[in-house]
Amino acid sequence: MLKIGELEFCDKPVFLAPMEDVTDPSFRYMCKKFGADLMFTEFISVDGLIRDAKKSLKKLDIFDYERPVGIQIYGHIPEAMEQASLMINKNANPDLLDINYGCPVKKIATRGAGAGMMRNLALMKEITEKVVKSSKFPVTAKTRLGWDSESLNVEEVALLLQDCGIQAITIHGRSRVQMYKGEADWNLIGKVKNNQNIKIPIIGNGDITSAKNAEEKFNKYGVDAIMIGRAAIGKPWIFAEVKHFLNTRKHLASPGVVERVEYAKEHLQKSLDYKENKRGVYEMRRHFALYFKAIPDFRDTKIKLLSAQTSEEILEILNFIQEKYGKYDSNFFEDYENNEN
Ligand SMILES: Cc1cc2nc3c(=O)[nH]c(=O)nc-3n(C[C@H](O)[C@H](O)[C@H](O)COP(=O)(O)O)c2cc1C
Repeated sequence: MLKIGELEFCDKPVFLAPMEDVTDPSFRYMCKKFGADLMFTEFISVDGLIRDAKKSLKKLDIFDYERPVGIQIYGHIPEAMEQASLMINKNANPDLLDINYGCPVKKIATRGAGAGMMRNLALMKEITEKVVKSSKFPVTAKTRLGWDSESLNVEEVALLLQDCGIQAITIHGRSRVQMYKGEADWNLIGKVKNNQNIKIPIIGNGDITSAKNAEEKFNKYGVDAIMIGRAAIGKPWIFAEVKHFLNTRKHLASPGVVERVEYAKEHLQKSLDYKENKRGVYEMRRHFALYFKAIPDFRDTKIKLLSAQTSEEILEILNFIQEKYGKYDSNFFEDYENNEN
């Protein structure tokens, strides 16, 4: 059974990946509802936290119903990382603290934070030791295969992080240079997992889009947990689908339009509970664009849905969708997804 610190997980646990502008409390509510075993906040800049930036502080919000949850931080200055860790001890109550050593975004990685840290292992060691020492929460890390195809050093990185006291490592099977392109390479994730000297749990991440795919990752690469990112956007029920399949080897029916509308309403309500009306509406657009993907002749309705300015307008459009497209049931979506995967 997987343990991270005192946290215990079921066999073959399925985690939600941290995603900026996506994994806020409303989305986490939906993923938890469908069984995500561990979730993470969006990444938080330690510079922002220390400056008292409102946006960074807000990202520390955690609700009891969503536990266990990890807070993820990034930065490149050891003292700032330590200070942020102390702030989190005092002002937040996550189940674990995760360090981002995988972000490929230019302004972060070229400054040496995120995946940039894979090119400066001395700094990675210093930062990790400081955060581990200062944090009262178990500390984990999320990283990639390496900077580019010539420097795939994740095995060395994993050993270093383990030595520093990191309690679990998530590996996204791409290099920094790949960003999100190409296919995730799980062979190297499997190699790290099977390295005799690695004793801490390894969480595999990258391109898991279906229950079958998820099962294959566990069986073929032996990882302790898997983490799903993009495939959960507009489809938080993927956690239920994956877990049902892992437990029973049977496929769970995909929700039809009628259920999808109910989920979309619930998600919207959570978003409104958490944010002021305008942002709560605006930030739902990326999710709505995908909740109803696959419906034929949906273009005009989708444009209306994604340009609506108020929650009242959205609810009206959602009711219309339920009425007009309600005939698209779980069989329809299952056929669509079978063709897609
Ligand atoms: C919109 C978006 C935002 C992301 N933000 C973060 C982040 O804040 N922290 C992080 O560690 N990874 C972040 N990632 C990377 C994901 O956590 C994950 O590693 C990646 O998407 C690969 O997994 P997937 O194929 O299941 O999506 C982000 C990815 C996306 C698409």
